[in-house]
Amino acid sequence: MNRDKTPRPLQDEGVEDGKKRIIVLASGRGSNFQAILDALSEGTIRGACVRLISDVPGCYAIERAKFSRVPVTVVDYKVFPSKDAYEKSLLFAMKECSPDLVVLAGYMRILGNDIVRSFHGKIMNIHPALLPSFPGLHAQRQAIGYGVKVAGCTVHFVDEMMDSGPIILQKCVPVLPDDDEERLSERILREEHRCYPYAVLLFCEDRLKIEGRTVRVL
Ligand code: GRF
Repeated sequence: MNRDKTPRPLQDEGVEDGKKRIIVLASGRGSNFQAILDALSEGTIRGACVRLISDVPGCYAIERAKFSRVPVTVVDYKVFPSKDAYEKSLLFAMKECSPDLVVLAGYMRILGNDIVRSFHGKIMNIHPALLPSFPGLHAQRQAIGYGVKVAGCTVHFVDEMMDSGPIILQKCVPVLPDDDEERLSERILREEHRCYPYAVLLFCEDRLKIEGRTVRVL
């Protein structure tokens, strides 16, 4: 990484003309990242994953990236003296990739405002609940605890608040009488793996238009 103020764009990584440059931020097992990689490798999405950035060295998402020959940058949260210093370094690493789209795939931190503003309308997240119900951690546990009959997942653009940006797609699943957190999470995750690549596909075809809180699918 260069230490100048302005990130130098990385060498052309062979992204074909007209394809969106996608970067993924992940902190954990990366099953959504994998679902997106699989969809990209099928060739139906006009995009290419140019980098995985992770805040957790050794997380399984990094293994997935290596297997798929996606370049990896680790910005290890633990080595920075403050959240501010971490965010500056993360922003630098992100800008270096010149992304058209930033995909949060199990990225377990709240992005700072500088980053959100720098990539306004270009950052997506997936949340394992039907927002605005059950934002934050342990959404599936919250759903079980509340006794809802329908749960699901939400893909949304990221704004300055947690799990609050304009909604792109939602998918429902039933909550069955003998569900526990694990069973419900698995059912939701299967939908996540369909929804998220589809949202990426729509973005890459310029078919998502944000109008206030509403995302129109063109
Ligand atoms: C998913 O449930 C996603 O909705 C949430 O974090 C989890 C990440 O799982 N944001 P994975 O790392 O993609 O397997």
